[in-house]
Amino acid sequence: MAIKAVKGINDILPNVVGRWQLVESVARRIFSNFGFQEIRIPILEKTELFARSIGETTDIVEKEMYTFPDRNGQLLTLRPEATASVVRAFIQHKLHLEPGMRKFYTMGPMFRHERPQKGRYRQFHQIDVEVFGVDDPMIDAEVIYMLLVYLQELKLPDIKMHINSMGCPDCRLPFRQSLADYLEGVSDKLCSDCQRRRRTNPLRIFDCKVDSCGKLVDEAPVLLEHLCHECGENFQSVQDNLHSLAVAYTIDPLLVRGLDYYTRTTFEAITPHLGAQDAVGGGGRYDGLMKVLGGPDLPGTGFAIGMERLILLLDDKAGAPKERNRLFVACLGEEAKSRGFSLAQELRVSGLSVEMDYESKSLKAQMRRADKLASTHVLIVGDDELAKGAALLRDMEASSQEEIPLEGLVEQLLGRMK
Ligand code: HAM
Repeated sequence: MAIKAVKGINDILPNVVGRWQLVESVARRIFSNFGFQEIRIPILEKTELFARSIGETTDIVEKEMYTFPDRNGQLLTLRPEATASVVRAFIQHKLHLEPGMRKFYTMGPMFRHERPQKGRYRQFHQIDVEVFGVDDPMIDAEVIYMLLVYLQELKLPDIKMHINSMGCPDCRLPFRQSLADYLEGVSDKLCSDCQRRRRTNPLRIFDCKVDSCGKLVDEAPVLLEHLCHECGENFQSVQDNLHSLAVAYTIDPLLVRGLDYYTRTTFEAITPHLGAQDAVGGGGRYDGLMKVLGGPDLPGTGFAIGMERLILLLDDKAGAPKERNRLFVACLGEEAKSRGFSLAQELRVSGLSVEMDYESKSLKAQMRRADKLASTHVLIVGDDELAKGAALLRDMEASSQEEIPLEGLVEQLLGRMK
């Protein structure tokens, strides 16, 4: 029996790859305008990196990571996200020794063992953005703005920005207690996961997808109403900066995000067009993470976009290959085939898109193939023409044909087709 790909892990076939290239190239262009540099990080990391950063009691770490011992018994994990790795690389290579803020982006596959459905996969791809070393809420507004500029450039419909503040450890500690008290009062109505979360990490109850817990969460106290003075001012300043950039947003006190490292600003870009998986991208500030991972006490902020979700939302025609001249070399006869073969390579090296086939079929069959490949021109090389020192060039659109001398043929074709 033929072997199939692993469930939730998909191939990206040539008919859609143009869309992937489009979202990648637009990201590179826009992010570079905002001063971001690309960084490439490994797919495999020590498990401890994610447990310590994302949080031991998050769904990602508890249930979703692909973790295994390697042949030396070291526990490794296929990265479920990129932030932890970018921070690890920053610390490991002492990039903080260069003064001033640092801005990075990276793209690639991530892995989470979730239940696959539209917009949710076990291998998925993110475009990830991180800024280190800036406290100023202006940078929160800037990354939110850049995310929206990017999504607008891709012409994604009906994107809404939701924002919230997760406060700092000072306001979170007392809030955690009032949330735990509330949950104790309704504990008999909580699902078994939330029973556990109530004791280990009550904030994670906001991630629960069980309907009955959702209703309880709607009535639970929210962190936004328990922010300390500084966090309240900080959140106001983020909003003022968003106003100054004319960014429309909705404050969503239930937006706690599924990762433990967030402090203060969190945000998500939401769309109504993806069913249950409505977040195209999300992120926030994580001021304590660098220190937790053994680095300097530098603040961080960033976001990640789900590339599969972008692709689902793109217009059908987005990323269609650019029209360009394509030559098909049709050969008739053995000598012609050998000559055509060398010519095809030479023309490719000179910059033309050239195809031929090797099955020695009839001219009619080769013309059909040329048509299928959307060739704009066909070079017919026949033993008879060769004897005359010429070949025929057929312009497929104009349905015209002319004889071209073999001498200087490459220059002639380049002149007409490049
Ligand atoms: P996240 O919200 O877990 O955040 O993921 C970001 C985006 O990745 C989501 O909004 C979604 O579009 C996409 N995504 C997540 N899981 C899946 C999945 N199973 N299948 C398809 N797409 C998915 C983070 O990962 C943070 N590291 C973002 C961040 C960067 N925060 C600060 N810096």
